[in-house]
Amino acid sequence: MLHTTASTLEEIALLREELSHKGQKLVLTNGVFDLLHVGHIRYLAEARALGDCLVVAINDDASTRSLKGPSRPIHRAENRAEMLLALRSVDRVVIFSEKHATRVIDAIRPHIYVKGGDYTPDTLVGEEKALMDKLGTEIRILSLSPGESTTATLERVTEAEKKENVATADTSQATPRIAILGSGTGSNARALLAAAAEGRLGAEVSVVVCDVPGAGILDIAEEYGVPTLVIDPKSKKRGHLSDEALQQLTDELTAIGVDLVVCAGFMRILREPLLSAFPERVLNLHPSLLPKYPGLNSAARALEAGDAETGCTVHLIDAGIDTGPILRQAHVPIFPDDTVDSLTARIHEAEHHIYPEVVADLLRSRAAATSHERA
Ligand code: GRF
Repeated sequence: MLHTTASTLEEIALLREELSHKGQKLVLTNGVFDLLHVGHIRYLAEARALGDCLVVAINDDASTRSLKGPSRPIHRAENRAEMLLALRSVDRVVIFSEKHATRVIDAIRPHIYVKGGDYTPDTLVGEEKALMDKLGTEIRILSLSPGESTTATLERVTEAEKKENVATADTSQATPRIAILGSGTGSNARALLAAAAEGRLGAEVSVVVCDVPGAGILDIAEEYGVPTLVIDPKSKKRGHLSDEALQQLTDELTAIGVDLVVCAGFMRILREPLLSAFPERVLNLHPSLLPKYPGLNSAARALEAGDAETGCTVHLIDAGIDTGPILRQAHVPIFPDDTVDSLTARIHEAEHHIYPEVVADLLRSRAAATSHERA
């Protein structure tokens, strides 16, 4: 019969009598057996080979704590018993509550008592030794497998944890990379590049992408020593990028390892496959208080409508035009003597302020969410 749970001392005492009648030998060993390792497996196999039945007496959880300290056992006694009983070499397990096994030895009266090589006959607990001498129990000390112990196992776990922490820290400390996409003068690109250079962005600008050769944004990128990429839209349609151009752009940004795509006056519509390659990571800046005045000439339209204020909006790009989730807005007053130029200049000022802030906040909250997920 296969045992999967611990036996009582009375059951083992009966078993010992049965074995004796058959001329067979009961082998007893004891310990905590908290973290099974190959040293245990070899030791128990060797112990079993000395007789006909191996009984392992394990300390209960309270006595383990008093022997090994408050952090042990890792596995509770019932589970330790179940694991040991799953081994071919172990016939029975008993759980005992004292630090030493004297009561167990007395009850079982094993033919052979086995201990590991960290003991010598002289270092065995005195009262255990005296009792076994009296019972005529044969004492055997088995050599242990070098380097295979519970302490060594715990050290390996600690080492592995340290390595894991270093790896995690490395990833979480990696500076996020952003790509700025623009078609024009690039005053917002300048604000973002300045913020990055001053360490206010929490990111490095890895590339500036532009669809208009010779545009001012390319000079600004050069001024900041940031690589540029001039893309061919491969489409004659205004505001459009061909499927091929979109795929190329997606591939380039992916190869660079871009974390965030930041549009700053990019006059072409971004769509698949780029949006799926950077889910919720493509930002746009629009010169109005969306959902008011999406599309082109927003400042002029606000002025013509006689609005008292307008502003700018940072939003995520979705499949629509200027429809994605709004991240932040800034309000800008419209004065009676404003022209399109004066109003545009005032909107720009607000844009230069909020865009770097939103990018930094977004990257910060994403980093916090990632480290939370890891924890
Ligand atoms: C900004 O007004 C922005 O809101 C819009 O395009 C303009 C870009 O200006 N999407 P700049 O090139 O950053 O100076």
